[in-house]
Amino acid sequence: MRIVYVVGTRPNFVKTAPVVAALRARFPEGTHTIVHTGQHYDRLMSEVFLEELGVPAPDHMLEVGSGSHARQTALVMERLEPVLDRERPDLVMVPGDVNSTLAAALTAAKMQIPVAHIESGLRSFDRTMPEEINRIVADEFSEYLFLHSDEAIENLRAEGIAEERMHFVGNTMIDTLVALEERFRAAGTAARLGLQPGSFALVTLHRPALVDGPLLPEAMRRLTELAREMPVLFPVHPRTRKMMEEVEAEHPGLVLSEPLGYVDFLSLLADAGAVLTDSGGIQEETTYLGIPCFTLRDNTERPVTIRAGTNTLLGLDPAAIAGIPAALAERSGERPDPPPLWDGHAAERIADVLAGA
Ligand code: UD1
Repeated sequence: MRIVYVVGTRPNFVKTAPVVAALRARFPEGTHTIVHTGQHYDRLMSEVFLEELGVPAPDHMLEVGSGSHARQTALVMERLEPVLDRERPDLVMVPGDVNSTLAAALTAAKMQIPVAHIESGLRSFDRTMPEEINRIVADEFSEYLFLHSDEAIENLRAEGIAEERMHFVGNTMIDTLVALEERFRAAGTAARLGLQPGSFALVTLHRPALVDGPLLPEAMRRLTELAREMPVLFPVHPRTRKMMEEVEAEHPGLVLSEPLGYVDFLSLLADAGAVLTDSGGIQEETTYLGIPCFTLRDNTERPVTIRAGTNTLLGLDPAAIAGIPAALAERSGERPDPPPLWDGHAAERIADVLAGA
């Protein structure tokens, strides 16, 4: 078995790390080749993550960097093709829904190399989101669709995808969380930052719909107001940092930081009183941990997190941030059961599927 794993962004590393480990263990005679597209390239967004997750150093670095969607996608395709030509894998494994995912799935499909998609079948039904286009294309061209929640089955059926290609294995991002649980529970990151566990809000915002326009300064104003009620910690994604620099403003009371390592970030998530985000992965991690999450988007491709009772969609409206303290006061504080197969063993199930193929 010769497998090429193509990763490009911070969440890709988290989703793929357990799969590389499980498939190396299951196919020790196989060839396992990691390609890093370089979509994320800052040390804090890339190397720090790979090191913490114990992912071996990538075998190929494509160094595509940032750019328009067409350019970034095209550069990955152009640079990946000769790598796949040399490696001639039996399978190309792609995670998630970023531009690197789309580019790798297309390149492999055109070379008639089977594609496996980790986190298949999620749909926001909002094609203004670049990730929605990436998901649809990656699923269409994948031979193995690894589903992390049962709602994906209906989404894929509606697109005419054959049942034999679908494998409901669970959530590999939760595999990583479970594997790191002892470490992040012992990390005490909140206390180190002078924050009382359970008392503070943790914020991440990076999606273009929110940070690339006038909503960002409005969100920052609302966060400053929230900081009068509870400490607010905001590790800032590079895209958001760039946009903030274009708007001169003071943010009294808000604690802004560089992007954090994963163990520190999970430690803060587990200790947060509330989380405000537009990330997909964080909606899932808070569901597993039973932490109240408020999502600043109009929709989510992860309705399973809403049904679990941990996640609330606020809409793409920063004014809704004002309602968070009242919403917290009304919560029961019970930790719900995690969704089916979010149990730390999804990557092993992927290995089972491939071993039986
Ligand atoms: C990408 C994904 C998004 C995912 C996110 C996770 C796409 C379309 N988007 O968004 O789905 O949720 O990753 O973080 O694939 N930049 C840096 N250093 C880096 C990376 C980015 O400075 O290491 C800055 C650059 O200014 C760049 C901007 O961030 O132009 C955007 O980066 P890009 O890779 O295009 O998308 P993300 O916003 O990170």
